[in-house]
Amino acid sequence: MEKFYITTPLYYVNDEPHIGHAYTTILADVISRFNRSIGKDVFFLTGTDEHGQKVQEASEKRGVPPKEHADEFVKRFKNAWKNLDINYDHFIRTTDENHKDKVKKILTSLYEKGDIYFDEYEGLYSVSEERFITEKEKEEGQFREVKTIKEKNYFFRMSKYQKKLIDHINNNEKFIRPRSRKNEILGFLKKPLNDLCISRPKSRLSWGIDLPFDNDYVTYVWFDALINYISGIGWGEKSSENFDNYWPADYHLMAKDILTTHCVYWPTMLMACDIDLPKSIFAHGWWLIDNMKMSKSIGNVVRPLDLANEYGSDSLRYYLMRNMVLGQDSTFTTNSFIERYNADLANDYGNVVNRVVILIKKYYDSKIPEPGEYNDIDKNLINQFNDLSNVINLHLESLKIHELIEIIFSKIRLINKYLEEKEPWKTYKTNPNQRDVTATTLYVSIECIRICTKLLNPIMPNKTKLVLNAIGSKESSLKFEEINFGQEIGCIPTLFPRIEFK
Ligand code: MSP
Repeated sequence: MEKFYITTPLYYVNDEPHIGHAYTTILADVISRFNRSIGKDVFFLTGTDEHGQKVQEASEKRGVPPKEHADEFVKRFKNAWKNLDINYDHFIRTTDENHKDKVKKILTSLYEKGDIYFDEYEGLYSVSEERFITEKEKEEGQFREVKTIKEKNYFFRMSKYQKKLIDHINNNEKFIRPRSRKNEILGFLKKPLNDLCISRPKSRLSWGIDLPFDNDYVTYVWFDALINYISGIGWGEKSSENFDNYWPADYHLMAKDILTTHCVYWPTMLMACDIDLPKSIFAHGWWLIDNMKMSKSIGNVVRPLDLANEYGSDSLRYYLMRNMVLGQDSTFTTNSFIERYNADLANDYGNVVNRVVILIKKYYDSKIPEPGEYNDIDKNLINQFNDLSNVINLHLESLKIHELIEIIFSKIRLINKYLEEKEPWKTYKTNPNQRDVTATTLYVSIECIRICTKLLNPIMPNKTKLVLNAIGSKESSLKFEEINFGQEIGCIPTLFPRIEFK
Protein backbone atom coordinates (compact mmCIF):
# COMPACT_ATOMS: atom_id res chain seq x y z
CA MET A 1 0.00 0.00 0.00
CA GLU A 2 1.33 3.46 -0.85
CA LYS A 3 2.51 5.35 2.25
CA PHE A 4 1.73 8.94 2.99
CA TYR A 5 3.22 10.92 5.87
CA ILE A 6 2.07 14.44 6.74
CA THR A 7 2.93 16.75 9.64
CA THR A 8 1.85 20.06 11.16
CA PRO A 9 4.17 22.34 13.11
CA LEU A 10 4.32 21.66 16.83
CA TYR A 11 2.43 24.52 18.41
CA TYR A 12 3.86 26.45 21.35
CA VAL A 13 2.01 25.86 24.56
CA ASN A 14 2.19 29.53 25.48
CA ASP A 15 -1.28 30.13 24.13
CA GLU A 16 -4.57 28.45 23.41
CA PRO A 17 -5.22 27.26 19.89
CA HIS A 18 -6.61 29.93 17.56
CA ILE A 19 -7.92 29.91 14.00
CA GLY A 20 -4.37 30.02 12.58
CA HIS A 21 -3.34 26.83 14.38
CA ALA A 22 -6.68 25.26 13.57
CA TYR A 23 -6.23 26.03 9.86
CA THR A 24 -2.95 24.14 9.43
CA THR A 25 -4.23 21.24 11.49
CA ILE A 26 -7.53 20.99 9.62
CA LEU A 27 -5.65 21.25 6.31
CA ALA A 28 -3.44 18.32 7.35
CA ASP A 29 -6.53 16.40 8.44
CA VAL A 30 -8.37 17.06 5.18
CA ILE A 31 -5.36 16.01 3.09
CA SER A 32 -4.96 12.90 5.26
CA ARG A 33 -8.60 11.93 4.87
CA PHE A 34 -8.51 12.42 1.09
CA ASN A 35 -5.42 10.25 0.86
CA ARG A 36 -6.95 7.58 3.06
CA SER A 37 -10.04 7.65 0.89
CA ILE A 38 -7.97 6.79 -2.17
CA GLY A 39 -6.45 3.85 -0.37
CA LYS A 40 -3.14 5.22 0.91
CA ASP A 41 -1.64 4.21 4.22
CA VAL A 42 -1.49 7.58 5.98
CA PHE A 43 0.40 8.74 9.06
CA PHE A 44 -0.58 12.17 10.36
CA LEU A 45 1.57 13.68 13.10
CA THR A 46 0.85 16.79 15.15
CA GLY A 47 1.73 17.94 18.66
CA THR A 48 3.16 20.63 20.89
CA ASP A 49 6.45 22.48 21.26
CA GLU A 50 7.00 22.82 24.97
CA HIS A 51 10.54 24.00 25.72
CA GLY A 52 12.27 27.34 25.41
CA GLN A 53 11.89 30.88 26.47
CA LYS A 54 8.32 31.54 25.34
CA VAL A 55 6.93 28.66 27.34
CA GLN A 56 9.15 29.39 30.32
CA GLU A 57 7.90 32.99 30.36
CA ALA A 58 4.26 31.96 29.96
CA SER A 59 4.54 29.53 32.86
CA GLU A 60 6.32 32.10 35.05
CA LYS A 61 3.53 34.56 34.37
CA ARG A 62 1.03 32.05 35.62
CA GLY A 63 3.24 31.08 38.53
CA VAL A 64 3.30 27.36 37.74
CA PRO A 65 6.22 25.06 36.85
CA PRO A 66 6.71 24.84 33.07
CA LYS A 67 5.81 21.15 32.77
CA GLU A 68 2.60 21.67 34.72
CA HIS A 69 1.81 24.66 32.54
CA ALA A 70 2.46 22.60 29.41
CA ASP A 71 0.30 19.70 30.65
CA GLU A 72 -2.60 22.07 31.01
CA PHE A 73 -2.22 23.71 27.61
CA VAL A 74 -1.74 20.38 25.86
CA LYS A 75 -5.21 19.45 27.07
CA ARG A 76 -6.60 22.56 25.38
CA PHE A 77 -4.98 21.65 22.08
CA LYS A 78 -6.14 18.04 22.28
CA ASN A 79 -9.62 19.16 23.19
CA ALA A 80 -9.74 21.62 20.30
CA TRP A 81 -8.57 18.99 17.83
CA LYS A 82 -11.11 16.52 19.14
CA ASN A 83 -13.91 19.02 18.71
CA LEU A 84 -12.73 19.89 15.22
CA ASP A 85 -12.69 16.20 14.26
CA ILE A 86 -8.95 16.06 13.72
CA ASN A 87 -8.03 12.46 13.16
CA TYR A 88 -4.29 12.43 13.86
CA ASP A 89 -2.29 9.23 14.27
CA HIS A 90 0.03 10.53 16.95
CA PHE A 91 0.27 13.63 19.13
CA ILE A 92 3.88 14.26 20.05
CA ARG A 93 5.03 16.48 22.92
CA THR A 94 8.63 17.66 22.97
CA THR A 95 8.67 16.87 26.69
CA ASP A 96 8.04 13.16 25.95
CA GLU A 97 11.00 11.19 27.34
CA ASN A 98 11.20 9.27 24.13
CA HIS A 99 11.60 12.46 22.08
CA LYS A 100 14.15 13.90 24.49
CA ASP A 101 16.27 10.73 24.24
CA LYS A 102 16.34 11.00 20.47
CA VAL A 103 17.32 14.66 20.52
CA LYS A 104 20.20 13.73 22.81
CA LYS A 105 21.17 10.89 20.55
CA ILE A 106 21.42 13.25 17.58
CA LEU A 107 23.30 15.87 19.59
CA THR A 108 25.83 13.28 20.75
CA SER A 109 26.42 11.89 17.29
CA LEU A 110 26.86 15.34 15.72
CA TYR A 111 29.17 16.39 18.55
CA GLU A 112 31.27 13.26 18.12
CA LYS A 113 31.35 13.79 14.41
CA GLY A 114 32.63 17.34 14.86
CA ASP A 115 29.55 19.00 13.41
CA ILE A 116 28.86 20.64 16.76
CA TYR A 117 31.58 22.83 18.33
CA PHE A 118 32.00 25.21 21.27
CA ASP A 119 32.76 28.88 20.66
CA GLU A 120 32.36 32.36 21.98
CA TYR A 121 30.09 34.51 19.91
CA GLU A 122 28.97 38.08 20.00
CA GLY A 123 25.95 38.88 17.92
CA LEU A 124 22.47 40.29 17.57
CA TYR A 125 19.83 38.29 19.37
CA SER A 126 16.09 38.59 18.92
CA VAL A 127 14.45 37.78 22.23
CA SER A 128 11.02 37.42 20.64
CA GLU A 129 12.24 34.96 18.02
CA GLU A 130 14.70 33.30 20.38
CA ARG A 131 17.54 33.28 17.92
CA PHE A 132 20.66 35.10 16.77
CA ILE A 133 19.96 37.16 13.68
CA THR A 134 22.11 38.83 11.03
CA GLU A 135 22.58 42.58 10.51
CA LYS A 136 20.50 42.30 7.36
CA GLU A 137 17.66 40.58 9.17
CA LYS A 138 17.72 43.34 11.78
CA GLU A 139 17.55 45.98 9.06
CA GLU A 140 14.57 44.25 7.49
CA GLY A 141 12.85 45.03 10.77
CA GLN A 142 10.84 41.84 11.23
CA PHE A 143 12.50 40.96 14.51
CA ARG A 144 11.54 42.42 17.83
CA GLU A 145 13.46 42.91 21.08
CA VAL A 146 16.89 42.78 19.43
CA LYS A 147 19.93 43.07 21.66
CA THR A 148 23.64 42.32 21.44
CA ILE A 149 24.68 39.22 23.33
CA LYS A 150 28.19 37.91 23.96
CA GLU A 151 28.12 34.31 25.04
CA LYS A 152 29.90 30.97 24.91
CA ASN A 153 27.73 28.47 23.15
CA TYR A 154 27.59 25.34 21.04
CA PHE A 155 27.21 25.70 17.30
CA PHE A 156 26.03 23.37 14.59
CA ARG A 157 28.13 23.57 11.40
CA MET A 158 25.21 24.54 9.24
CA SER A 159 27.44 26.45 6.81
CA LYS A 160 29.11 23.19 5.81
CA TYR A 161 25.89 22.06 4.14
CA GLN A 162 24.96 25.27 2.34
CA LYS A 163 26.08 24.18 -1.13
CA LYS A 164 24.46 20.78 -0.79
CA LEU A 165 21.21 22.42 0.33
CA ILE A 166 21.16 24.85 -2.59
CA ASP A 167 21.74 21.96 -5.01
CA HIS A 168 18.96 19.97 -3.40
CA ILE A 169 16.49 22.84 -3.67
CA ASN A 170 17.43 23.43 -7.30
CA ASN A 171 17.18 19.76 -8.22
CA ASN A 172 13.90 19.06 -6.45
CA GLU A 173 11.14 21.21 -7.82
CA LYS A 174 8.68 20.16 -5.13
CA PHE A 175 10.98 20.48 -2.12
CA ILE A 176 9.81 23.98 -1.18
CA ARG A 177 6.33 24.99 -2.19
CA PRO A 178 4.74 27.14 -3.41
CA ARG A 179 7.44 28.34 -5.83
CA SER A 180 7.49 31.90 -4.45
CA ARG A 181 8.68 30.47 -1.14
CA LYS A 182 11.36 28.45 -2.87
CA ASN A 183 12.69 31.63 -4.46
CA GLU A 184 12.62 33.36 -1.08
CA ILE A 185 14.81 30.65 0.43
CA LEU A 186 17.19 30.58 -2.53
CA GLY A 187 17.51 34.36 -2.11
CA PHE A 188 18.32 33.89 1.58
CA LEU A 189 20.94 31.29 0.68
CA LYS A 190 22.81 33.68 -1.63
CA LYS A 191 24.57 35.10 1.44
CA PRO A 192 27.01 32.84 3.28
CA LEU A 193 25.14 30.81 5.87
CA ASN A 194 26.17 31.21 9.52
CA ASP A 195 26.56 28.24 11.80
CA LEU A 196 23.57 27.69 14.05
CA CYS A 197 23.77 28.34 17.78
CA ILE A 198 22.07 25.29 19.25
CA SER A 199 22.54 25.83 22.98
CA ARG A 200 21.36 28.23 25.66
CA PRO A 201 23.29 28.67 28.92
CA LYS A 202 21.16 27.55 31.85
CA SER A 203 21.97 30.86 33.56
CA ARG A 204 19.72 32.47 30.95
CA LEU A 205 17.24 29.71 30.18
CA SER A 206 16.74 26.54 32.14
CA TRP A 207 13.65 25.06 30.48
CA GLY A 208 14.95 22.76 27.78
CA ILE A 209 16.64 19.46 27.01
CA ASP A 210 20.06 19.16 28.70
CA LEU A 211 22.97 18.97 26.31
CA PRO A 212 24.32 15.43 26.74
CA PHE A 213 27.91 16.72 26.66
CA ASP A 214 27.59 19.85 28.84
CA ASN A 215 25.34 20.13 31.85
CA ASP A 216 25.47 23.91 31.94
CA TYR A 217 23.46 24.19 28.76
CA VAL A 218 20.07 23.30 27.37
CA THR A 219 19.23 22.68 23.69
CA TYR A 220 17.94 25.52 21.52
CA VAL A 221 14.20 25.04 21.20
CA TRP A 222 14.13 24.81 17.38
CA PHE A 223 16.89 22.19 17.24
CA ASP A 224 14.83 20.17 19.71
CA ALA A 225 11.43 20.69 18.10
CA LEU A 226 12.32 19.99 14.45
CA ILE A 227 13.52 16.52 15.40
CA ASN A 228 9.91 15.61 16.26
CA TYR A 229 9.24 14.86 12.60
CA ILE A 230 11.44 11.77 12.85
CA SER A 231 11.25 11.01 16.57
CA GLY A 232 7.45 10.99 16.29
CA ILE A 233 7.55 8.03 13.92
CA GLY A 234 10.11 6.02 15.80
CA TRP A 235 13.47 7.05 14.37
CA GLY A 236 16.38 5.63 16.32
CA GLU A 237 14.38 2.87 17.97
CA LYS A 238 15.32 -0.79 17.83
CA SER A 239 12.38 -1.67 15.71
CA SER A 240 11.85 1.49 13.70
CA GLU A 241 9.16 0.04 11.47
CA ASN A 242 7.13 3.24 11.27
CA PHE A 243 10.17 5.31 10.43
CA ASP A 244 11.25 2.89 7.73
CA ASN A 245 7.72 2.86 6.35
CA TYR A 246 6.82 6.52 6.39
CA TRP A 247 10.01 8.56 6.14
CA PRO A 248 10.69 10.73 4.12
CA ALA A 249 7.59 12.77 4.90
CA ASP A 250 5.38 13.69 1.97
CA TYR A 251 4.50 17.07 3.47
CA HIS A 252 5.60 19.28 6.30
CA LEU A 253 2.79 21.84 6.43
CA MET A 254 3.14 25.27 8.05
CA ALA A 255 2.59 28.96 7.49
CA LYS A 256 5.23 31.18 5.94
CA ASP A 257 6.41 32.47 9.35
CA ILE A 258 8.52 29.40 10.00
CA LEU A 259 9.83 28.74 6.52
CA THR A 260 13.53 29.37 7.21
CA THR A 261 13.76 27.05 10.16
CA HIS A 262 12.12 24.31 8.09
CA CYS A 263 13.89 24.90 4.80
CA VAL A 264 17.37 25.70 6.11
CA TYR A 265 17.91 24.42 9.67
CA TRP A 266 15.98 21.17 9.32
CA PRO A 267 17.39 19.92 6.00
CA THR A 268 20.97 20.70 7.02
CA MET A 269 20.42 18.90 10.33
CA LEU A 270 19.16 15.88 8.39
CA MET A 271 22.10 16.04 5.99
CA ALA A 272 24.48 16.02 8.95
CA CYS A 273 22.69 12.93 10.27
CA ASP A 274 22.72 11.23 6.85
CA ILE A 275 18.93 11.02 6.82
CA ASP A 276 16.90 11.64 3.65
CA LEU A 277 15.17 15.00 3.35
CA PRO A 278 11.37 15.38 3.40
CA LYS A 279 9.75 15.37 -0.03
CA SER A 280 7.92 18.64 0.33
CA ILE A 281 7.84 21.60 2.70
CA PHE A 282 4.67 23.54 2.10
CA ALA A 283 4.04 27.03 3.46
CA HIS A 284 0.57 28.53 3.33
CA GLY A 285 -0.40 32.15 3.97
CA TRP A 286 -1.71 33.80 7.12
CA TRP A 287 -5.16 34.35 8.42
CA LEU A 288 -5.41 38.07 8.95
CA ILE A 289 -7.74 40.17 11.01
CA ASP A 290 -7.97 43.81 9.99
CA ASN A 291 -4.96 43.24 7.75
CA MET A 292 -2.80 42.00 10.60
CA LYS A 293 -1.67 38.46 11.24
CA MET A 294 -3.78 36.79 13.85
CA SER A 295 -1.45 36.13 16.76
CA LYS A 296 -1.25 36.02 20.50
CA SER A 297 1.21 38.91 20.68
CA ILE A 298 -1.17 41.21 18.78
CA GLY A 299 -4.12 39.85 20.74
CA ASN A 300 -6.49 39.69 17.75
CA VAL A 301 -7.22 36.01 17.88
CA VAL A 302 -10.41 34.15 17.04
CA ARG A 303 -11.00 30.97 19.00
CA PRO A 304 -11.98 28.15 16.67
CA LEU A 305 -14.06 26.43 19.28
CA ASP A 306 -16.32 29.42 19.76
CA LEU A 307 -17.26 29.23 16.09
CA ALA A 308 -17.42 25.45 16.02
CA ASN A 309 -19.68 25.39 19.07
CA GLU A 310 -22.02 27.90 17.52
CA TYR A 311 -22.12 26.74 13.90
CA GLY A 312 -20.63 23.23 13.95
CA SER A 313 -17.16 21.93 13.28
CA ASP A 314 -18.02 20.99 9.68
CA SER A 315 -18.97 24.56 8.81
CA LEU A 316 -15.77 25.96 10.25
CA ARG A 317 -13.65 23.35 8.50
CA TYR A 318 -15.43 24.13 5.26
CA TYR A 319 -15.00 27.89 5.56
CA LEU A 320 -11.28 27.66 6.38
CA MET A 321 -10.58 25.28 3.51
CA ARG A 322 -12.70 27.19 1.00
CA ASN A 323 -11.70 30.74 1.82
CA MET A 324 -7.94 30.46 1.84
CA VAL A 325 -6.38 30.46 -1.60
CA LEU A 326 -3.26 28.36 -1.76
CA GLY A 327 -0.21 30.30 -0.66
CA GLN A 328 -2.01 33.62 -0.16
CA ASP A 329 -3.14 35.44 2.98
CA SER A 330 -6.81 35.47 3.79
CA THR A 331 -8.88 37.78 5.94
CA PHE A 332 -11.12 36.32 8.58
CA THR A 333 -14.42 38.03 9.31
CA THR A 334 -17.55 36.60 10.88
CA ASN A 335 -19.52 38.09 8.00
CA SER A 336 -17.49 36.26 5.37
CA PHE A 337 -18.00 33.08 7.39
CA ILE A 338 -21.78 33.53 7.48
CA GLU A 339 -21.94 34.51 3.81
CA ARG A 340 -19.99 31.46 2.77
CA TYR A 341 -22.06 29.20 4.98
CA ASN A 342 -25.38 30.52 3.69
CA ALA A 343 -24.41 30.52 0.03
CA ASP A 344 -22.65 27.16 -0.23
CA LEU A 345 -23.81 25.02 2.65
CA ALA A 346 -27.35 26.18 3.35
CA ASN A 347 -28.35 27.13 -0.22
CA ASP A 348 -26.43 24.94 -2.62
CA TYR A 349 -25.62 21.73 -0.81
CA GLY A 350 -28.19 21.60 1.99
CA ASN A 351 -30.92 22.61 -0.38
CA VAL A 352 -30.27 20.02 -3.05
CA VAL A 353 -30.09 17.19 -0.52
CA ASN A 354 -33.28 18.33 1.11
CA ARG A 355 -35.15 18.73 -2.16
CA VAL A 356 -34.33 15.32 -3.55
CA VAL A 357 -34.86 13.43 -0.31
CA ILE A 358 -38.26 15.03 0.21
CA LEU A 359 -39.38 14.16 -3.32
CA ILE A 360 -38.26 10.54 -2.97
CA LYS A 361 -40.08 10.34 0.32
CA LYS A 362 -43.23 11.84 -1.14
CA TYR A 363 -43.43 9.92 -4.41
CA TYR A 364 -41.61 6.70 -3.70
CA ASP A 365 -42.19 6.06 -0.03
CA SER A 366 -38.56 6.97 0.70
CA LYS A 367 -37.24 4.18 -1.57
CA ILE A 368 -34.72 5.11 -4.25
CA PRO A 369 -36.65 4.59 -7.51
CA GLU A 370 -35.48 2.47 -10.40
CA PRO A 371 -34.31 4.66 -13.27
CA GLY A 372 -35.66 4.32 -16.80
CA GLU A 373 -33.81 5.30 -19.97
CA TYR A 374 -31.48 8.26 -19.72
CA ASN A 375 -32.26 11.14 -22.07
CA ASP A 376 -29.78 13.82 -23.17
CA ILE A 377 -30.33 16.00 -20.15
CA ASP A 378 -29.64 13.05 -17.84
CA LYS A 379 -26.61 12.02 -19.84
CA ASN A 380 -25.21 15.54 -19.78
CA LEU A 381 -25.27 15.59 -16.02
CA ILE A 382 -23.91 12.06 -15.68
CA ASN A 383 -21.01 12.93 -18.01
CA GLN A 384 -20.03 15.75 -15.69
CA PHE A 385 -19.25 13.12 -13.11
CA ASN A 386 -17.05 11.00 -15.37
CA ASP A 387 -13.40 11.26 -14.64
CA LEU A 388 -14.09 13.32 -11.54
CA SER A 389 -11.70 11.29 -9.41
CA ASN A 390 -8.79 12.13 -11.72
CA VAL A 391 -9.56 15.82 -11.54
CA ILE A 392 -9.83 15.63 -7.77
CA ASN A 393 -6.56 13.72 -7.44
CA LEU A 394 -4.73 16.30 -9.53
CA HIS A 395 -5.90 19.09 -7.26
CA LEU A 396 -5.08 17.04 -4.22
CA GLU A 397 -1.55 16.52 -5.45
CA SER A 398 -1.05 20.24 -5.85
CA LEU A 399 -2.84 20.90 -2.52
CA LYS A 400 -5.29 23.24 -4.24
CA ILE A 401 -8.02 22.42 -1.76
CA HIS A 402 -10.05 25.58 -2.39
CA GLU A 403 -10.19 24.77 -6.12
CA LEU A 404 -11.07 21.18 -5.41
CA ILE A 405 -13.99 22.39 -3.31
CA GLU A 406 -15.04 24.77 -6.04
CA ILE A 407 -15.15 21.88 -8.51
CA ILE A 408 -17.38 19.86 -6.18
CA PHE A 409 -19.68 22.83 -5.71
CA SER A 410 -19.90 23.50 -9.42
CA LYS A 411 -21.27 19.95 -9.69
CA ILE A 412 -23.71 20.55 -6.84
CA ARG A 413 -25.01 23.63 -8.61
CA LEU A 414 -25.41 21.54 -11.76
CA ILE A 415 -27.64 19.09 -9.88
CA ASN A 416 -29.83 21.99 -8.74
CA LYS A 417 -29.97 23.28 -12.31
CA TYR A 418 -30.81 19.82 -13.61
CA LEU A 419 -33.75 19.59 -11.22
CA GLU A 420 -35.02 22.97 -12.40
CA GLU A 421 -34.80 21.73 -15.95
CA LYS A 422 -36.43 18.35 -15.43
CA GLU A 423 -39.01 19.51 -12.89
CA PRO A 424 -39.76 16.12 -11.33
CA TRP A 425 -42.53 17.73 -9.23
CA LYS A 426 -44.30 18.47 -12.53
CA THR A 427 -43.55 15.31 -14.45
CA TYR A 428 -44.89 13.26 -11.54
CA LYS A 429 -48.16 15.13 -11.29
CA THR A 430 -49.10 16.17 -14.80
CA ASN A 431 -48.68 12.89 -16.53
CA PRO A 432 -48.59 9.62 -14.63
CA ASN A 433 -47.05 7.97 -17.69
CA GLN A 434 -44.03 10.06 -17.07
CA ARG A 435 -43.38 8.46 -13.71
CA ASP A 436 -40.47 6.71 -15.33
CA VAL A 437 -38.98 10.08 -16.17
CA THR A 438 -39.48 11.26 -12.60
CA ALA A 439 -37.88 8.13 -11.23
CA THR A 440 -34.92 8.60 -13.54
CA THR A 441 -34.50 12.23 -12.51
CA LEU A 442 -34.55 11.40 -8.84
CA TYR A 443 -32.26 8.40 -9.24
CA VAL A 444 -29.72 10.46 -11.19
CA SER A 445 -29.95 13.30 -8.66
CA ILE A 446 -29.48 11.17 -5.58
CA GLU A 447 -26.60 9.35 -7.23
CA CYS A 448 -24.87 12.62 -8.08
CA ILE A 449 -25.55 13.87 -4.56
CA ARG A 450 -23.97 10.71 -3.19
CA ILE A 451 -20.81 11.31 -5.22
CA CYS A 452 -20.54 14.96 -4.16
CA THR A 453 -21.17 13.99 -0.55
CA LYS A 454 -18.49 11.37 -0.69
CA LEU A 455 -16.09 13.98 -2.07
CA LEU A 456 -17.00 16.45 0.67
CA ASN A 457 -16.51 13.85 3.38
CA PRO A 458 -12.84 14.65 4.15
CA ILE A 459 -13.78 18.30 4.59
CA MET A 460 -17.03 17.87 6.52
CA PRO A 461 -16.88 14.40 8.05
CA ASN A 462 -19.98 14.68 10.26
CA LYS A 463 -22.79 15.96 8.08
CA THR A 464 -21.64 14.00 5.07
CA LYS A 465 -21.55 10.81 7.08
CA LEU A 466 -25.10 11.47 8.12
CA VAL A 467 -26.16 11.80 4.48
CA LEU A 468 -24.18 8.78 3.30
CA ASN A 469 -25.63 6.65 6.08
CA ALA A 470 -29.16 7.83 5.40
CA ILE A 471 -28.95 6.93 1.73
CA GLY A 472 -27.40 3.61 2.61
CA SER A 473 -24.08 4.19 0.95
CA LYS A 474 -21.32 2.49 2.89
CA GLU A 475 -17.84 2.40 1.42
CA SER A 476 -19.04 4.05 -1.73
CA SER A 477 -16.93 4.77 -4.78
CA LEU A 478 -17.05 7.75 -7.09
CA LYS A 479 -18.51 5.66 -9.90
CA PHE A 480 -21.98 6.50 -11.18
CA GLU A 481 -24.79 3.96 -10.74
CA GLU A 482 -23.34 2.44 -7.66
CA ILE A 483 -26.33 3.00 -5.44
CA ASN A 484 -29.07 0.36 -5.38
CA PHE A 485 -32.61 1.29 -6.27
CA GLY A 486 -35.17 0.08 -3.80
CA GLN A 487 -32.81 1.20 -1.05
CA GLU A 488 -34.71 3.06 1.65
CA ILE A 489 -33.57 6.55 2.58
CA GLY A 490 -33.39 7.30 6.28
CA CYS A 491 -34.28 10.56 7.94
CA ILE A 492 -32.03 13.56 7.25
CA PRO A 493 -32.54 16.65 9.37
CA THR A 494 -31.96 20.11 7.87
CA LEU A 495 -28.21 19.92 7.35
CA PHE A 496 -27.28 23.59 7.42
CA PRO A 497 -30.06 25.88 8.66
CA ARG A 498 -29.59 29.41 7.34
CA ILE A 499 -27.82 31.81 9.66
CA GLU A 500 -29.43 35.22 9.98
CA PHE A 501 -26.99 38.14 10.28
CA LYS A 502 -27.17 39.59 13.74
N1 MSP B 1 6.71 25.94 17.74
C1 MSP B 1 6.94 26.50 16.46
C2 MSP B 1 6.93 25.44 15.39
C3 MSP B 1 7.89 24.32 15.58
S1 MSP B 1 7.70 23.10 14.35
C4 MSP B 1 8.92 22.03 14.63
C5 MSP B 1 5.87 27.53 16.17
N2 MSP B 1 4.73 27.40 16.86
S2 MSP B 1 3.45 28.37 16.73
O1 MSP B 1 2.57 27.99 17.81
O2 MSP B 1 3.83 29.72 16.65
O3 MSP B 1 2.74 27.91 15.42
C6 MSP B 1 3.07 28.47 14.17
C7 MSP B 1 2.19 27.85 13.13
O4 MSP B 1 0.80 27.98 13.49
C8 MSP B 1 2.25 28.50 11.74
O5 MSP B 1 3.35 28.07 10.99
C9 MSP B 1 0.93 28.06 11.17
O6 MSP B 1 0.99 26.71 10.84
C10 MSP B 1 0.01 28.25 12.35
N3 MSP B 1 -0.43 29.64 12.45
C11 MSP B 1 -0.29 30.46 13.53
N4 MSP B 1 -0.86 31.66 13.24
C12 MSP B 1 -1.36 31.64 12.00
C13 MSP B 1 -2.12 32.55 11.22
N5 MSP B 1 -2.47 33.74 11.66
N6 MSP B 1 -2.51 32.13 10.00
C14 MSP B 1 -2.22 30.89 9.51
N7 MSP B 1 -1.52 30.02 10.22
C15 MSP B 1 -1.04 30.37 11.45
O7 MSP B 1 6.08 28.37 15.31
